Amino acid sequence: MCGIVGYVGTRQAQDVVVDGLRRLEYRGYDSAGIALVVDGDGDVRIAVAKKAGKLANLEKVIADTPLPASTTGIGHTRWATHGAPNDVNAHPHLGFGRRVALVHNGIIENFAELRERIEADSEQLGLVSETDTEVAAQLLELQLASDVDLTEAMQRVCGQLDGAFTLVAVDAHDPTRVVAARRNSPLVVGIGDGENFLGSDVAAFIEHTREALELGQDQVVTITADSVSITDFHGVPQEGRRYHVDWDLSAAEKEGHDWFMRKEIYEQPRAVADSLLGRRTAEGLLHLDEMRLSDQELRDIDKIIIIACGTSFYAGMVAKYAIEHWCRVPVEVELASEFRYRDPILDYSTLVVAISQSGETADTLQAIRHARTQRSKVLAICNTNGSTIPRESDAVIYTHAGPEIGVASTKGFLTQLVACYLLALYLAQVKGTRFGDEITQVVHELEAIPGHIESVLADDAVVLELAQSLVGATSVLFLGRHAGYPVALEGALKLKELAYLHAEGFAAGELKHGPIALIESGLPVFCVVPPRGRDQLHDKMLSGIQEVRARGARTICLAEEGDDKITPYADVLIRLPAVPVLLQPLVAVVPLQLFACELASLMGHDVDQPRNLAKSVTVE
Ligand code: G6P
Repeated sequence: MCGIVGYVGTRQAQDVVVDGLRRLEYRGYDSAGIALVVDGDGDVRIAVAKKAGKLANLEKVIADTPLPASTTGIGHTRWATHGAPNDVNAHPHLGFGRRVALVHNGIIENFAELRERIEADSEQLGLVSETDTEVAAQLLELQLASDVDLTEAMQRVCGQLDGAFTLVAVDAHDPTRVVAARRNSPLVVGIGDGENFLGSDVAAFIEHTREALELGQDQVVTITADSVSITDFHGVPQEGRRYHVDWDLSAAEKEGHDWFMRKEIYEQPRAVADSLLGRRTAEGLLHLDEMRLSDQELRDIDKIIIIACGTSFYAGMVAKYAIEHWCRVPVEVELASEFRYRDPILDYSTLVVAISQSGETADTLQAIRHARTQRSKVLAICNTNGSTIPRESDAVIYTHAGPEIGVASTKGFLTQLVACYLLALYLAQVKGTRFGDEITQVVHELEAIPGHIESVLADDAVVLELAQSLVGATSVLFLGRHAGYPVALEGALKLKELAYLHAEGFAAGELKHGPIALIESGLPVFCVVPPRGRDQLHDKMLSGIQEVRARGARTICLAEEGDDKITPYADVLIRLPAVPVLLQPLVAVVPLQLFACELASLMGHDVDQPRNLAKSVTVE
């Protein structure tokens, strides 16, 4: 979703804001804009530049027509909701008298009604864009005309808005402050020395400070160069939670890779290792830092529902196999966007597990809220400290992937899998459904995974060659069984997201019930082959591969080292390290990520910013 930056201090705000936007561009890249409060010898005004398309277009505009010097500014990079992604709809939006400039992330649901009210008042207030944001800018300016300051104007306006929003505004009459508000949409404060920052996430200001302040729901924050004050929408003072960001600028840079996604794929051994760190006591027992649920509460759980979107949903599918096998607790996996609309059966003995890399996905957040109203406990699996989802959950397991910037999730997914396995093993420990030495054995197997991923990545030549041979393919299928089925779905999703290809994942056993009709000569079919330890699964998969091959498919088999049975039926063979079937997704998905990244790159697509997508979708 949109990226937002605000700054007050002593540096040139334009530089700080544009740098911040560059780091937030993964959130949306339909258009970008900046507004500065310019004090030209007592003649204070707002200077604005905005442009459709990627941030580079805005940078060109600013380079051609430089903005005046200023130390107070706001900026925005947009993922369009209301109105086409053109120059006029780009943020910031100005009030009718050009006194206020405003940027916005989210959707103001009652915007049509507010718009009618404004347009009925006066023609002078005529709106020029199709956005909901401009309505809020006009409302702010109307409030300022009644002689209140920008902070109070923001409080009053927020009281009139329905929906989800982060708003950040500047007032031409007060160059010393930037005022922001949030409801159901992300916003963090960066605390500097003689300067302060606002951002949709910490990447916006990580170059300048690693001290951050987390804001609560329905709060207004005012920053000046040396102060930060927070209130609720009624003006009652509030406190933010201060925290230190434990990653630095290098984590948010490409470090020699051409794409963030490629860098993040190659970072996965480290990300998995970090996510496993510190999870065992000296006695060898598993412990999870922020598991704020007591052992008794966990023992009382008789059903688990996992909710998530996109790639995180596939991590949830893998978790189902692991939890049911190790803990003997029934698990449902549900798309967060569907969850609350089907009136799910929930009570205090249901644990809802919400998986979200960003911690901000609106569909997941609303599902969590619904679950909590039904007295269920919610545990979040999340990668983003300070985000809304862990804050609104009863417990959290943080993954330690570091910032994920490529829009298509990679290390986020692998570390979610690790967190799911840890949760399953922890539950097994608490409920006593597995012996301690069995749990320790799996933990050892998990600890060996970073090395296995290294070896998959070291063997990347076959994947790169394959990508070259498949430029021009129009359709690709993925087959898997058991824990390999979500891997097949994720492989297909990656190709859709990045290469804009028709790609579908199927449970291999379902093939004969319909999808086999799609097979035609030369169609590439990826087959995730289960380890030989699970003979039945393995042999059934082998039959499926033979069936598609007999009909002319080009089979690309991902099979463990030493699995010779598969060799005669594989047109291309990608070797995987031997790991237990439940852990196989951790190694099997890696070549599929790499393949999608490489193919999209060869096709000339922007791998980090695929068309129409956003990293974090903060609207329902
Ligand atoms: C968006 C992204 C996906 C991601 C999904 C869920 O659609 O493009 O890559 O998997 O959101 O995001 P979350 O942050 O909740 O894991």
